Amino acid sequence: MIKIDNLEVHFRNEMTSTVQQVLKGISFDLNEGDALAILGESGSGKSTLGRVLVGLLKPTAGQYFFMDKQPYKNKADRKFLSENISIVFQDYNTSVNPRFTVGEIIGESLNVLKKRTKTNINIKHNICKLLNDVGLDETYYDRFPHQLSGGQLQRVCIARAVAINPKIILFDEPISSLDASTQVQIMDLLKDLREKYNLTYIFITHDLTSVTYFCNKVIFLYEGKITEAINVKDIHKTKDNYAKRLLDSILEV
Ligand SMILES: Nc1ncnc2c1ncn2[C@@H]1O[C@H](COP(=O)(O)OP(=O)(O)OP(=O)(O)O)[C@@H](O)[C@H]1O
Ligand SMILES: [Mg+2]
Repeated sequence: MIKIDNLEVHFRNEMTSTVQQVLKGISFDLNEGDALAILGESGSGKSTLGRVLVGLLKPTAGQYFFMDKQPYKNKADRKFLSENISIVFQDYNTSVNPRFTVGEIIGESLNVLKKRTKTNINIKHNICKLLNDVGLDETYYDRFPHQLSGGQLQRVCIARAVAINPKIILFDEPISSLDASTQVQIMDLLKDLREKYNLTYIFITHDLTSVTYFCNKVIFLYEGKITEAINVKDIHKTKDNYAKRLLDSILEV
């Protein structure tokens, strides 16, 4: 579904005229039905890689194939990418318009889908269905973001991501700002949605426990390079130093 070959991202600092190589020689494949975790410490380049994958950042070098199309070579392919991939961010507060109601937030995505597919979607009915899918009900329809808890608002963001009927959803630390019990509830929800809608996931995190929840593959990023790509079931055999430290810290608890 996705093939990344020798991807590089460099940022130029105009003040100092220096170049920072944030991603170096990244290559991997993502198959339909995979749930791929991208794990690494802060600053390792996870979000930068995520931005490339969803079409927001043109890589400095390397190839990106999305379902055999090349989003950074061709405008129509970029559009195809944006129609088939959704994003859920860590910061649910800044990823919604505070003046929009829950119905309007999810409705916006459904309107895009309606226009694109030229089908006669009943927007209100679908919003209610999506709210139910993410464990909320119709009473949330007219509420504003500030009238929701963090966990509820993240559920709305997840509903909005599902609404465009994507093939892939990319999550960038979706549970990091939530308390422990809400984290578990959201992880359960993501697991259910994946099965229900046959979704492929890319899950950016620095938390190894959440990886074992539903991911089947994991790549470790360290200073912009992939240090290891491994099946989650083999994670105890990892040779990656960062992964080993994470595993040890979990086992000590
Ligand atoms: N637009 C940009 N311009 C310049 N430098 C950037 C830009 N975006 C990211 N960087 C730099 O790239 C590096 C990687 O950042 P990135 O946000 O990808 O890390 P991350 O792994 O997501 O970290 P975290 O876990 O803290 O979210 C950092 O050193 C950051 O300062
Ligand atoms: Mg990040």
